[in-house]
Amino acid sequence: MTLHGQVALVTGAGRGIGKAIAMKLASEGVNVGLVARTAADLNAVAAQLKEAYGVRTHTVAADISNRREVEQAVQQTTEALGPIDILINNAGAAKFGTVLDMDPADWEQILRVNVLGTYYVTRAVLPDMVRRNTGSIVNVSSTAGQRGAATTSAYSAAKFGVIGFSESLMQEVRKHNIRVTTLTPSTVNTEMATTLGLKIGPQDRMLQPEDVADLVWSILNLPQRVFVNQAGIWTTNPA
Ligand SMILES: NC(=O)c1ccc[n+]([C@@H]2O[C@H](COP(=O)([O-])OP(=O)(O)OC[C@H]3O[C@@H](n4cnc5c(N)ncnc54)[C@H](OP(=O)(O)O)[C@@H]3O)[C@@H](O)[C@H]2O)c1
Repeated sequence: MTLHGQVALVTGAGRGIGKAIAMKLASEGVNVGLVARTAADLNAVAAQLKEAYGVRTHTVAADISNRREVEQAVQQTTEALGPIDILINNAGAAKFGTVLDMDPADWEQILRVNVLGTYYVTRAVLPDMVRRNTGSIVNVSSTAGQRGAATTSAYSAAKFGVIGFSESLMQEVRKHNIRVTTLTPSTVNTEMATTLGLKIGPQDRMLQPEDVADLVWSILNLPQRVFVNQAGIWTTNPA
């Protein structure tokens, strides 16, 4: 199976893990639709992909927690690049704080982006995959979606939600030849980890976004009859 010439949609592609996945896919000849809220980031990534790899790209600035924006983004991407073969539900948001300290508006927003956003994008992309009887979906959860911790209630509730959604989706669509994988990375060296205060040692001892991208590429390249249900990714070299 070759993925060359296929079409991927990557959410949260403006920086961090999403950007690294978009770069990896493009380096292998996959045409990539890029979604995030900041158009300038997306345009910079798209220019890099075109320049380095000559693939086709399409950018849409959209908030994945807004269903109308998501539906328009998926429609525009499909019109520009063709039906989506690979969906990378990577965009996510995180904020830490105790249950009592955290502003309820922030708590709700973390749920909206991670859970509803993943659901909205999937729901918009899925009909074409079912009709074509093919597709791969990778949903990015976290180790925080497997274990709760003090101050992570919103993020853990959201990322547990992503795993529950993803597992149910997987059971629904595997009969349509659609593969659904949930990733549960530990801390990765990105802006999100900086903001959350998770960079506690030398950065070269952390997982890098490119490591996650390499794992995604390996998973996508398994024979079509097989898929990884859930994959954790850790570093052997913790600080
Ligand atoms: N970094 C880690 O340690 C780590 C570990 C495990 C799992 N994860 C998960 O991995 C994924 C990527 O994380 P990252 O570390 O690469 O984060 P990041 O550096 O903060 O990048 C997040 C990307 O998502 C986009 N985004 C955020 N909210 C959005 C929204 N409402 N609608 C559309 N796009 C949105 C951001 O762009 P805009 O702000 O322009 O929208 C950005 O492009 C997330 O789901 C995160 O929870 C991260």
